[in-house]
Order: sequence, then C-alpha cells, then structure tokens
Amino acid sequence: MIKSGKDTIFAAKLIREGKLVAFPTETVYGLGANGLDANAVASVFEAKKRPSFDPLILHISSTDDLSVIFKKPADIIYQLADKYWPGPLTIVAKKTAKVPDIVTAGLETAAVRMPNHPVALKLIRQSKVPVAAPSANIFGRLSPTKPQHVKEQLKTIDYLLEGGKTDLGIESTIVSVKDAKTIEVLRPGAITIDTLQKDFPHIDFITGSGGDSLTAPGQLKSHYSPRKPLYLYDELPSELPSYAALILFKPYNIPSDAQSKVVLLSKTGDIKEAASNMFGALHSLEGDSEIEQIYAVKIKEEGLGIAVMDRLKKAAYRFTNFYNDHEIEAG
Ligand code: TXA
Ligand code: MG
Repeated sequence: MIKSGKDTIFAAKLIREGKLVAFPTETVYGLGANGLDANAVASVFEAKKRPSFDPLILHISSTDDLSVIFKKPADIIYQLADKYWPGPLTIVAKKTAKVPDIVTAGLETAAVRMPNHPVALKLIRQSKVPVAAPSANIFGRLSPTKPQHVKEQLKTIDYLLEGGKTDLGIESTIVSVKDAKTIEVLRPGAITIDTLQKDFPHIDFITGSGGDSLTAPGQLKSHYSPRKPLYLYDELPSELPSYAALILFKPYNIPSDAQSKVVLLSKTGDIKEAASNMFGALHSLEGDSEIEQIYAVKIKEEGLGIAVMDRLKKAAYRFTNFYNDHEIEAG
C-alpha cells in the first residue's frame, strides 16, 4: 500500500527531495515531481511506464512563474491565464533553458497550467518549484478521478495526497500558441473551442493542423483504455446481454428483456455531471468480475461533448480497429 493522507507540507518536502507525489486537481489526479529536477522527472516516466517522447505539463501556482518557463511570454499568454486560471487550460509555448529537456521530451516548447484545486495549489506553493505532472495512471490506462484509482495503478510512488473525487473528471484543454493571431487546440477539454473563440474573437483557434507528430504528442489514437472491450454505439444497442454493461450519458427507455447492467452517468442528462462520472464508471466496470464487455451510447460532438467523445473514442480505439495495430499508441 502506498502512503496517503492530507499533509501538503510533508508532500512538498518530498517534491523538493526529488520524490513522487500524486495529488488531486479539478480535472484528474496528477503524478507530481520537481519540474526543474531531471532525475525526479525521470522517475515519473518510470513509475507511469510512459515513453520518453511524451512530454509533461508543468503546474504552477502563480503567473510569476511563467517567465521562468516561457521565453518572452506573449501578451496573449497572460490574457489566457488571466481569463481561465486557475482552471483546466494548459498553454504550450517556447520554453527557456531552465526547463529540463526530459520534461518536454526534447521539444522547444513547454506546457503549463495552474490547476483550480486548493490542495494542488497549496502543494505547488509549498514546493516552491513548478510541479511536472502527467495524469496519475499507468500509460495508456484509464485516467484517475479518485484516490482509489491512483492506488490501484501506481504502487511505487512516495505519497498520495487525498482530495476526494475530482470535479471535472476530464483532462485540461491544451492550446498551443503559434503566433499573435493563431492558437491550436491540441486536446479538447472543459474549456471548449467555442468558449475560447467567443472570449478571444481576434484570435484564430484551429484544430488538427497535423504536421510533425512530435508537435502534438498528446494526439495519440489509443489512450485511456479500460482492460476489457469497449464498444461505442450511435443508439441503444439492440441486444443487451448480461455479460455486457451499458454506459449512458442520459436516460433511455431500456427494453424490458434487456439483461445488461446499466450505468447512468447523469439522471438529468447533464453533460458536465456525466463527464465527471465517466472515468469512474469505466474504472468500476473494469474491476467488475461479472462484466466482460462495456457498451456506451455516443453523445453529440458539441461543447463538452467534443472532449467526452475524444476520450471515449480513444478508449475504444484498440477494440474497434483490429487491423491498425501498428498505429496504436497510448498515453
Ligand atoms: O488536466 C490535466 O491536464 C492533467 C492534470 C494532472 O493536470 N494532466 C494531464 O497530463 O492530463 P498528461 O501527461 O496525462 O497529458 C498531457 C498531455 C500529453 O498528451 C502531452 O503529450 C501533452 O500534454 N504535452 C505536454 N507538453 C507538450 C508540448 N510541449 N507540446 C505539445 N503537447 C504537450
Ligand atoms: Mg494522461
């Protein structure tokens, strides 16, 4: 069993000593290390079994740290920070030499965010360093939204700061600042492209410009997978056998002869509530010995639905694309 509790001072001391601390954020649990200590960051990759080409996000508690991490941060970076921090937005821009190459997987850019969670902010403040933290899961497996999920996957870390269930349950939106007028959304999240575009009408928010795969290492096709087959349906599947569980984002009329266990993520069909319960449902069905397969009914790809479907499609990818094994990567 890993050591866990609520002692942020102890946790911050561990971070400064180069150790690994899992902590809650408003999105998912992170696995933190001193972001300016290359050896500590190397242990994060090891604990997560994460390939070294996939860079980490630096977590800060004050915008003063931006100038340590980013080379001459552009005004738009401060404007984005002002608008959405603390909150689920990660900003990617040119880094300084202070950020070790292992953090950014050798890229010239670094990713930064200020999480909106009192425990995370306390930990970062008391650590007095930017905290490099990927999600606290084994590479490719489900993201952790509860302390228990971290305990199940990461057995070798030094401490788990407990903070209950995370609020949003979906990782941050990642944006990359290209130039004064163009920002690319690398990963959809709770701050939607519509919101960004509305708040910053003079900026062009683009998606999927493609190019060198290393400029967008987060855009892997397979990711966040449960360890049993997950299948996505456009509407209620016609057969609902007892060996399958059905995940629903809103209530449906279930036929009376259906035998599947039904997991309703929101009784009122509230997308935000459903999204925050999604990874938790996948975790518990993954551990449910009665269930062999998981079905989920898709939702519309609009607003927060874009981030939800992004995660679900990645979770289902390896079960629906048997002939594309060579393309499979995870995170
Ligand atoms: O909500 C979140 O962002 C959570 C919490 C813990 O903050 N963190 C998280 O980290 O989701 P992780 O490592 O699971 O995902 C971070 C993604 C990766 O896919 C990585 O490729 C991308 O961010 N990333 C990091 N640095 C990058 C960079 N310089 N350029 C492009 N993508 C980058
Ligand atoms: Mg992750």
